[in-house]
Amino acid sequence: MAGLSGTDGSAAEENACPFARKAAEFDPFDAPYQADPAEALRWSRAQLPVFFSEKLGYWIVSRYEDIKAVFRDNILYSPCIALEKITPAPPEAMEVLKSYGYQLNRTMVNEDEPAHMERRRVLMDHFLPENLEAKQDMVRQLTREKMDGFIDSGRVDLVDALLYEVPLNVALHFLGVPEDEIAVFKTFSVAHSVNTWGRPTDEQQIAVAHSVGQFWQYAGRIIERMKQEPDGTGWMHETIRKNAQMPEVVTDSYVHSMMMAIIVAAHETTSLASANMFKTLLSHRQAWEDICNDPSLIPNAVEECLRYSGSIVAWRRQVTAPTRLGGAELPEGAKLLIVQASGNQDERHFEDGDRFDIYRDNAVDHLTFGYGSHQCMGKNIGRMEMRIFLEEFSRRLPHLSLSEQTFSYVPSTSFRGPEELWVEWDPAHNPERLDPGASRGERHFPVGPPLRRDIARKVRVASVRREAEDVIGLTLVDARGRALPNWSAGAHIELSTGEFDRKYSLCGQPGKGGYDLAILREANGRGGSAHIHATIEEGMELRLRGPHNLFRLDERAERHILVAGGIGITPIIAMADRLKALGKSYQVHYCGRSRRAMAFLERLERDHGSCLSIHAGDEGQRADLGQIVNGLPSGGQIYVCGPERLIAAVEQLTAHLPDGSFHFEFFAGGSTGLDPAREKAFEVDLADSGLRLNVAADETLLDAILAAGIDVACDCREGLCGSCEVAVLEGAVDHRDMVLSRGERAQNARMMSCCSRAQNGGKLKLAL
Ligand code: FES
Repeated sequence: MAGLSGTDGSAAEENACPFARKAAEFDPFDAPYQADPAEALRWSRAQLPVFFSEKLGYWIVSRYEDIKAVFRDNILYSPCIALEKITPAPPEAMEVLKSYGYQLNRTMVNEDEPAHMERRRVLMDHFLPENLEAKQDMVRQLTREKMDGFIDSGRVDLVDALLYEVPLNVALHFLGVPEDEIAVFKTFSVAHSVNTWGRPTDEQQIAVAHSVGQFWQYAGRIIERMKQEPDGTGWMHETIRKNAQMPEVVTDSYVHSMMMAIIVAAHETTSLASANMFKTLLSHRQAWEDICNDPSLIPNAVEECLRYSGSIVAWRRQVTAPTRLGGAELPEGAKLLIVQASGNQDERHFEDGDRFDIYRDNAVDHLTFGYGSHQCMGKNIGRMEMRIFLEEFSRRLPHLSLSEQTFSYVPSTSFRGPEELWVEWDPAHNPERLDPGASRGERHFPVGPPLRRDIARKVRVASVRREAEDVIGLTLVDARGRALPNWSAGAHIELSTGEFDRKYSLCGQPGKGGYDLAILREANGRGGSAHIHATIEEGMELRLRGPHNLFRLDERAERHILVAGGIGITPIIAMADRLKALGKSYQVHYCGRSRRAMAFLERLERDHGSCLSIHAGDEGQRADLGQIVNGLPSGGQIYVCGPERLIAAVEQLTAHLPDGSFHFEFFAGGSTGLDPAREKAFEVDLADSGLRLNVAADETLLDAILAAGIDVACDCREGLCGSCEVAVLEGAVDHRDMVLSRGERAQNARMMSCCSRAQNGGKLKLAL
């Protein structure tokens, strides 16, 4: 069976037939993918993450990390096919296109290097957050005017009434394109989308080709008109001027192709994403009510909507040299459909990934805008519009609800959003009728990704108990009695209390309602654990972020050895529970200074007695780590959580084992504070963005990169999680993280931007 090489381990291979059949049957134009692409590829994420679809002629990529890897490397995975017709046209349709002189060529999205980055650098300025701030008032004004037109009607199709036209007007304003022919855009946009990502019949291909040809000529006429205004404002005017100044970089063909593509890209994506957002929020009523009551949740709610139901569900790349991805061997020339909608719900990256959760604090990691140097340039315009829509609607129409309806979608591999979205409300209950002052007091959200401090769910302390000397156990439940998100063994949450944000592993039973934690009071810590021990009591409300899992159990391994030092038992006990439930072979080694100070002994002995070894220092039972490591059979994995010296010792002992045999989590973060008296400023060149950054002595590299408008994921900001990793091209790094192994540090190819720096104030060059 073609392409059945991407299996996920031996278990999958044994059962290859069902997945081979699913791969052979997969067609993105079938109802399941069109209705819910993430759900349609659930089986693939679990078992066959990269497979060949004979019906489409593309390899399908469904897991988060694989999709990110493809986006990250635009040399090996060329974007050149991003705008190719996914359904080839019959010769008659090609003749029609030719008759209009249609020659859509390279644009920002399908351009290879080095031309792509050269142009992107030249044309990026208008998209920077500081240059978009001034557009907020215009977006709000347009939104308000549209709402004023229907606010007393009680029922409306939101797409028709606002969500199509406002993004289109904003796009035309941003581009500087004349707004006098708005009516023609919808026909042209739909034709371009169907032509590129749809499956028109041969008959429809002719009609679509006529529309696309007319759109092509129309784009050409707009360019000629705009050239008559050499001082015109807007991004396309700037592009036309750059075309005159540097025609070898911004070519004529590029300007014409870009004009056509950007008109669609700039508004269609936001219109569809906004329709998806309202549909999702209004069908998750608690989330809608939460943002009505607390608008500070809006920026993250927008990211979660983009993750859960974004408008760009898949994109395309072509392999330029034979390679291996997700277990599959890809030949040169292989075409890939990378399904962001599937990656966005991948449990390997998003805990409880198919749950809609506006409190998810890594929602911004979604792939809807793409990733890397081809990431959507207009992402911050789209975010801004969606936030303003939500802010206005949640304030002026909090009683909005979805009408009974059946949703229809234009068939497409890549774009998704309902064609109509009927909503209703009782105008008699409009807040501004009841209180005329209610229409004022809007919020201003800065352009850019959401602020992490605003993202937290409220929990209540259901119980506090003593687990061991200086260790308390807590059970936390949702403050409003809702179900908390599910989690997997190894996951942690972050508690926010007083001035402290602290991470703790979850140690109860996943799916059993509340979250159980155990917290050691650290005498020489930074004060967070002492504060919790001193102040915590039952009934208290706290803020919580997560859960996240950065210490994930590889359940495919033959055998697991789990080693805990002190309070490091918390993720280890959850892993032991999971392995027992799976019927796996495992051994738990629990090290501590004294049984008095070791939490969960009774439970461990009860539930894992036959697999448990206790190493209490005051009983002279110190763990022989060498012997423990030597007991690991081939194909086994070892997981360690505890103090730094324990992790370092096991890391050294496992240095000879194959990659992926050793996993660790460091449970006490070092200080994140920089001491400017001892730190040195340094310079960084970002090769892909063409930027030079000066990182001050009191600033982290991560903060300098984010300030330059480049999104880099981050979670812990303490060198623990690995999410802020950046690729190093040149320069010596002072590694300060707890993520990279010694071997990886020696290679000097990656660094954690939240904590690591250039050695001795030297210079670095990064692939960003
Ligand atoms: Fe976690 Fe940098 S943000 S290692």
